[in-house]
Amino acid sequence: MPEKRYSILLLGCGHMGNAMLRSWRQHDLPITVNVVKPTPIREGIDHYAPRLDALPDTQTYDVVILATPPQIADKAMAGLSNYLHAETLVISVMAGKTLAHLNTMLGGHDPIVRVMPNMPSSLGQGICGYVTSSTLNAVQQSRLDTLLHATGVAIALQHEDKINIVTALSGSGPAYAFLLIKAMADAGVALGLKDEQARLLAMHTVAGAGQYALQTGQSAEELLSKIAIKGGTTEAALKVLNTDDAFGDLLNTAIRRAYTHAKESG
Ligand SMILES: NC(=O)c1ccc[n+]([C@@H]2O[C@H](COP(=O)([O-])OP(=O)(O)OC[C@H]3O[C@@H](n4cnc5c(N)ncnc54)[C@H](OP(=O)(O)O)[C@@H]3O)[C@@H](O)[C@H]2O)c1
Repeated sequence: MPEKRYSILLLGCGHMGNAMLRSWRQHDLPITVNVVKPTPIREGIDHYAPRLDALPDTQTYDVVILATPPQIADKAMAGLSNYLHAETLVISVMAGKTLAHLNTMLGGHDPIVRVMPNMPSSLGQGICGYVTSSTLNAVQQSRLDTLLHATGVAIALQHEDKINIVTALSGSGPAYAFLLIKAMADAGVALGLKDEQARLLAMHTVAGAGQYALQTGQSAEELLSKIAIKGGTTEAALKVLNTDDAFGDLLNTAIRRAYTHAKESG
């Protein structure tokens, strides 16, 4: 039986809030979306308020999504517990804000779900990791699954400390891919291609390689062995990237740095 319409309060709706909103609308989910943020927004939502205290104070919401920058979250959440009912599913996509901290900020409310999504969520091509403060009831679990699956793939994590790894790997990860695209395109231009040609070649190569790896399900070693023929052109390039494991080491260091930052900001 299709689920009854339920209400969502989205606190903050910038890049990530909009990315999720777009996917939910594309999937035509049975939701009423209320957004609270300082500057007005109209598209894709049902109600807008500039501040929490501008919402009708008699209303509670079935799902509350916390999507403000972590630095201002505590201030933005002040008074939010008045808009929760006992079964409200609170979902935070904010980096660094722990379940224990959110629980305190929300007057002991439970359950809370910490999700770390990424930017391709807006295309339904995202991946996220999530952890819950306690077992969700069937309705809460079904809503969580529906909202997350509309944005892409969702991986349940057993421990909260893993969320910082997800933050560093896939939360920030699209930035690594964008940098790879830029570096490849720059190399193409330096060798004589036009800007637009080089950009298209680099973007489609990165996107196509990801799709190929996903669809074949093969390991990185199997994939590399198919393309890097002994004595060939690709092998010549890989020798440069793999000298002293330079490429792997650099990414490893970068992801560790992001992980430490995510952990410390918590
Ligand atoms: N961007 C990503 O790729 C990504 C990935 C994973 C997780 N996240 C997490 O998602 C959260 C939001 O990131 P973002 O990239 O979407 O940031 P963003 O684009 O800067 O959006 C922040 C939103 O918070 C709103 N806001 C500011 N002050 C507020 C207040 N007092 N009350 C209510 N709303 C307020 C802003 O409103 P205005 O629009 O009116 O300024 C804006 O809509 C962060 O905690 C981040 O850790 C982001």
